[in-house]
Parts: sequence; C-alpha cells; structure tokens
Amino acid sequence: MPQKIIIDTDPGQDDAVAILTALASPELQVLGITAVAGNVPLALTQVNARKVVELSGVDVPVYAGCDRPLARPLVTAEHVHGKTGLDGTDLPEPSVPLQDGHAVDFIIRSLRDHDAGTVTLVPVGPLTNIAEAFRRAPDIVARVQQIVLMGGAYFEVGNITPAAEFNIFVDPEAAAEVFASGVPLVVLPLDVTHKALTSADWIATLRAMPNRTGPAVAGWTDFFERFDTEKYGSSGAPLHDPCTIAWLLQPDLFQGRRINVEIETEGGLTTGMTVADWWGVTDRPANALFLKDVDRDGLFALLTERLGRLP
Ligand code: RIB
Ligand code: CA
Repeated sequence: MPQKIIIDTDPGQDDAVAILTALASPELQVLGITAVAGNVPLALTQVNARKVVELSGVDVPVYAGCDRPLARPLVTAEHVHGKTGLDGTDLPEPSVPLQDGHAVDFIIRSLRDHDAGTVTLVPVGPLTNIAEAFRRAPDIVARVQQIVLMGGAYFEVGNITPAAEFNIFVDPEAAAEVFASGVPLVVLPLDVTHKALTSADWIATLRAMPNRTGPAVAGWTDFFERFDTEKYGSSGAPLHDPCTIAWLLQPDLFQGRRINVEIETEGGLTTGMTVADWWGVTDRPANALFLKDVDRDGLFALLTERLGRLP
C-alpha cells in the first residue's frame, strides 16, 4: 500500500527535486502539493509548484496556502533561488490549474477523509500552512501519521542568521506550534542536508539523461550551487528538501537520534533557532528523530534512478 503524503512547499530548486522524486516513486501516493510563501512570495511558489508538476507528467492537485507567516512579515530568499524561485531552468507557464480553495482547507479535508494515522505531512518550507491547519482544526492533529520536515540546524548552525535555518526562521511561531503538537516528527536539518552535496559529475549525469527532467534538474542545481559554494567554499549544492523524500523511501540511508527539539521565538539574536538537546542535558521529552548523517552516494544513486523514471 503506497504511503500517502502531502508535500507542503515553497519551490525553490531543491523543493522541485523533492517533488519530482516523490512523483517518480510508486511507494508514495502524493495526495496533493500545497504551496506556501517562503523562498519567494506565494504568487510565485504556487506557479513554480504547478510548473514542476507539469514537468513530471503526473496528475496531482496543487493548492495555494498562506502568503505570509502567522505573526511576522515574510522573509524571502531570492539571493539563493533567484527572482523566480526556480532560476536555472526556464519552464513554460503551467497549464496545470491551481485548485480552488485554500491549501489549509485541503490539508484539513485530507486528514479527515483518510483513515487516522495514514497520511504523512512533508513540509519543506516554512511551517505556516501546517500550523494554520492545526489551529483551524485541532481534531486533525491526532490523525497525522507523522511529519517529515526539512528545517532547523544544530551543529551546523544557521544559514539565514548565525543561529537559525531559513524554514524555521521565516515562521518560528508556526514551527513552535508544530514541534509542540505531539505529532511524531522526523527532522532533516542542515546538519544532514549540508552533507547531501551535489557534484559536477552528478549534474553532468543528469544533464545527459534522455528525458526532460534530468536536464531541468541539472540547470536548477547548477544555479542553486553558486550560493553555497561562494558562502561555504563547498563544492556542490546541498539538496536540502529531497532528503525528506529519500528518508521516506530509504530511511537506512540516514542516521540520527530521537531527542527534544524546541524552537526559540523570543530571542533577539537566536529567533528561529532549533534548540536540539542532542546530548540529553535536559529532562525535556524527546519529540523528534533529528537526523545528522547520510550515505551521500546512496542518496544520489536513489535520486538519479528516480529522476530517470520521469519524462
Ligand atoms: O534552509 C533550506 C531550506 O530553505 C530549503 O527548504 C530551501 O528550499 C529553503 O526553503
Ligand atoms: Ca524549501
């Protein structure tokens, strides 16, 4: 029985790779894609999500969600993703329609319509849509099977501030409510995604793929890479969001531990920090599987094989 998931996303080149990998994987049934404001404004993330779905050739509904965080002005990341949010490969305006209705209502409806404990939420952007769904319909919280999210950082520290990772920083109030919800959490923080670095060989493999998906991903990752190589001096771009899908498909590629993770919302310098009790120095109960290591070669072999299945 395929694992039912909803991908909540702010495309974003790495979001696009996560969406494509999920849509190429028969182990997963993507009930829908919900767009949220993050890397770029919602008006762009919803179009980008539709472009990626169109590229995949898979029929899956796309909804637009929240256009700003719960309680703060929106912070975007055009400096990383370009002004469109999907710079690096130009795709045509999508013919895939935007579904009527709000993404939050789709999340609520999906969790009520499917058996409790059978739908996994996969947020790979700010957690605004998820937190808003839990606020509007508290009954759905207990029905969520698990949340597998890209966000946070501990040993790796922040990427948008010295203390905070972007997805959590943009909407720390939403993140705090999701991390306190009691839903089983699997967290893919920068600690692990910064080890999921592309390489020139991998990009060349994708560029040579005899489909349209491979070259599109090569263009995106080529573009996306420049920010991190300039900033970190690393060779290769961290494929943050695809780590969530790879964990769902092959969890043994990853290592981490169940720990307590809390979100700082009041700190001046540390707002949006994921305070991860990796060493168990508090008696705060574990609420998350916090991943720290990945078999990089196994991850990229999986991504290559799945992306090769698409048109
Ligand atoms: O910090 C990395 C995260 O922020 C990724 O999800 C990327 O797409 C951006 O949203
Ligand atoms: Ca993202």
